[in-house]
Amino acid sequence: MAEINSSAGKERNSRSGFLCATILFCAAFFALLFTACKKTAEKPVLRMVCNANFPPYELVMDGKIIGIDPDIIREICDRNGYQLEIENMSFGAIIAAVQTGKADVAASGITITEERKTKISFTDPYADASQRILIRRETTDFKLENLKNHPVSVQEGTTADMFVQKHYREPERYKNIPEVIQSLKTKKVYAAVVDQEPAEVEAAKNPDLLLLPDPLTSEKYAFAISRERPDLLQKFNVTLRQMQADGTLKKIKADGQIKYAGDKNAAVDAGFWEKLKNDLRINFIDGKRYRYLLDGFGITMLVTVFSILAGLLLGFLVAVTRSTHDLTGKYTFFDAVCRVYLTVIRGTPVVIQLLIIYFVIFGSHNVSKIIVAITAFGINSGAYTAEIIRAGIMSLDRGQIEAGRSLGLSYRMTMLRIILPQALKNVLPALGNEFIVLLKETSVAGFIALEDLTKGGDIIRSQTYNAFLPLMAVAVIYLAVVMFFSLLLKKAEEKLQKNR
Ligand code: ARG
Repeated sequence: MAEINSSAGKERNSRSGFLCATILFCAAFFALLFTACKKTAEKPVLRMVCNANFPPYELVMDGKIIGIDPDIIREICDRNGYQLEIENMSFGAIIAAVQTGKADVAASGITITEERKTKISFTDPYADASQRILIRRETTDFKLENLKNHPVSVQEGTTADMFVQKHYREPERYKNIPEVIQSLKTKKVYAAVVDQEPAEVEAAKNPDLLLLPDPLTSEKYAFAISRERPDLLQKFNVTLRQMQADGTLKKIKADGQIKYAGDKNAAVDAGFWEKLKNDLRINFIDGKRYRYLLDGFGITMLVTVFSILAGLLLGFLVAVTRSTHDLTGKYTFFDAVCRVYLTVIRGTPVVIQLLIIYFVIFGSHNVSKIIVAITAFGINSGAYTAEIIRAGIMSLDRGQIEAGRSLGLSYRMTMLRIILPQALKNVLPALGNEFIVLLKETSVAGFIALEDLTKGGDIIRSQTYNAFLPLMAVAVIYLAVVMFFSLLLKKAEEKLQKNR
């Protein structure tokens, strides 16, 4: 009896510990939500989105998004009393961001097309453009009809993508222009199709590439604004007309073509160590690029820790509901709800869940991406955690419950004091594994343009055109965290073994 008392005491402690953790977690979550939603601006904010790998129109330098598009939009903001906020995202997500109200304007060298017009409004055009072909200089026998039976790379969702698909073949689609260029340089494709001005910048930067003179298309760039914002569209058009008339537009473009032609990472002809040293400097030191990894690491850890906590809470509730139903036949309705949840969440990819939560559920709300990510990964992890905990509960002898009940404990008390602690002990290794999987799974957060660790590496890669070092650095950081975490788990397990 004394033994039961002391173990009941321990369980009470662990129960209040659990309660404290839950309260702490909720408090932290709402604090995060609050700071995320708070606006400090006096001037109204204009949120612009772009895909900043498109010099001279938009690019990232020293952590800032700069280029002709930001310059024009900033001027429009100044003339209309707005404060500008710029966000970088994949080109494929830009139109949807404006359409769903996540952004006020997309400025990203966007070509006016009929199809896009059905989703968003375009301002008056501000620049002429065309698609051009880039090849390797060594390809001396280039023929246009070869595009029909040789791989061609393009940026996903662009007019280059549509053009190649319509006239030649299914292109190789990459998320960003630097990857398009890299695929050409590393001979994965025969040619690349890119907008003229970025193609000129790339050709100047990469002496091994050749820009063919003939344009494939004739296009016009305009800014994209939600169809529900005719007022904003009107303001943009009026200001653009003024800027055209007073020469500002022309000046911004001419200056930009010189200023934003990009830094030439000329290849160095040096020995292995010399080259490695040089690459390390370019990838991590120049422009303080290591910051992308540090900041990304912080975000990855934040998202992982809170998702684990949310997943535990959810998983615990679902597991108890389901096993209570299995053991006592109660809660039929809740059991059914839990089953649907488990089926849907475990039956669909986490990236899709993340995108649905971001673009559909929080579609028209301006919620911080960190909250969106924690919500998505927490809900996802909850499903797996639930099944792990339930397995732990069901693996215990039914006699345990009867023993608890015959000691006069209620079903709830038996669950909390006898069953759950044992179940948790048994499934600790499986839970630990789930956390490790979750940590690595958060690497898809870049799909909603959250700048986590993986995305940090991507940003460096897209600026330095070097794949090896940024990817290695990211991999090593994940590995180190997982190893550290495994060690902690091992220690926890050993302790539990001893306690037993
Ligand atoms: N002009 C092309 C289009 O509208 C490509 C634009 C790509 N822009 C960018 N920032 N990556 O489809």
